[in-house]
Amino acid sequence: MLLPITERLYRILYQGCLSRLPEGPAVRAGQALLRVLPVEAIYRPGQDDPRLSVKLAGVDLPNPVILSSMYYDVTILRKAMALGFGAVTTKSITGTPRPGHPEPNLVRLFTPEGPGFVNCNGFKNPGLAAFRVALSNLQHRRPVVVSVAGESADEYRRLVEGLAALADLVELNISSPNTRLVYELSAAPHRVADLIMAARRATTKPLIVKLSPDYPEANHRAIVPAILDAGVDAVNFGNTRRVVEPRLSQGAGGVSGPALFENVLTNVRALRRALGPGPGLIATGGIDSPEKAIRVLEAGADAVSYFTAFVTRGPTLPRRIGDAILSALDRRGLGTVAELRSHG
Ligand SMILES: Cc1cc2nc3c(=O)[nH]c(=O)nc-3n(C[C@H](O)[C@H](O)[C@H](O)COP(=O)(O)O)c2cc1C
Repeated sequence: MLLPITERLYRILYQGCLSRLPEGPAVRAGQALLRVLPVEAIYRPGQDDPRLSVKLAGVDLPNPVILSSMYYDVTILRKAMALGFGAVTTKSITGTPRPGHPEPNLVRLFTPEGPGFVNCNGFKNPGLAAFRVALSNLQHRRPVVVSVAGESADEYRRLVEGLAALADLVELNISSPNTRLVYELSAAPHRVADLIMAARRATTKPLIVKLSPDYPEANHRAIVPAILDAGVDAVNFGNTRRVVEPRLSQGAGGVSGPALFENVLTNVRALRRALGPGPGLIATGGIDSPEKAIRVLEAGADAVSYFTAFVTRGPTLPRRIGDAILSALDRRGLGTVAELRSHG
């Protein structure tokens, strides 16, 4: 099939250049290009067909495709909104600035399912005070999910109090494999319950909890019940999966990309059963094609999110997912994205 011109150009740029550079320079070059190129020209007027709109935790999204947590640069977040993502998620913000782990902190991973990464980013971010200033300059052309990561219930509370006013939704990252304390939280469900309660008391904005794929037992036995008890509005499944990776400066990191997908699909189904129809559910991990996006929506997700495919598949993916959803709705005689759930 003949690819549209923008996709062909991205393939040339990615396969011919970015994917051949060492990872560090490739990340810097990719982000620099994203900042300066007029990528918003890719947005097609009418891309946000009203049938694509979804409600996530009470918030209206023009479509169910969310940029997952990775960027704190508001220029890039603004570009992502202009490309047509239905919402954008910020990098996880910590109480104080963090330089992140030294390079190499991102390596490519080639799996039978397709290209992904392993990262030990280590929460490189400007910290609460500086990010508040930056975020106050970001126009919410699309809903903004602000992600926070603390090391205690009190730090999560402080982060939520500091950032919720600037967010449409707040995501509690309890699942990143790149900092020991955050990761250990997932293995200590009583601490998770405390921090969720502290965050819940700190804001009336919709709260999302982002789960780890490495703790299926704890998720289902303790963390999901704590989420339901606290009245959390939505769950995001999930974060990267921890692996030993000698190429990284920390000797280990989190796998992202299509190797995660089948497990995400299984967990989305199980979580929808456990949560019931009310709470929102975001599917994250390895979604890199319109077909996969539709499969997780059918399995019970209200929205899909991705980061890796933003790099590997290029900036037209939100539009392609939207087009495929509209075709699926037409073919099946359905009116809304939410109806896909019962017709999978
Ligand atoms: C370099 C890098 C940095 C990330 N930083 C964060 C983060 O700060 N907070 C978070 O919750 N997830 C973070 N993630 C995880 C992604 O948001 C996403 O959950 C994960 O990559 C799986 O989705 P994907 O396969 O579409 O990339 C990061 C992922 C990568 C590759």
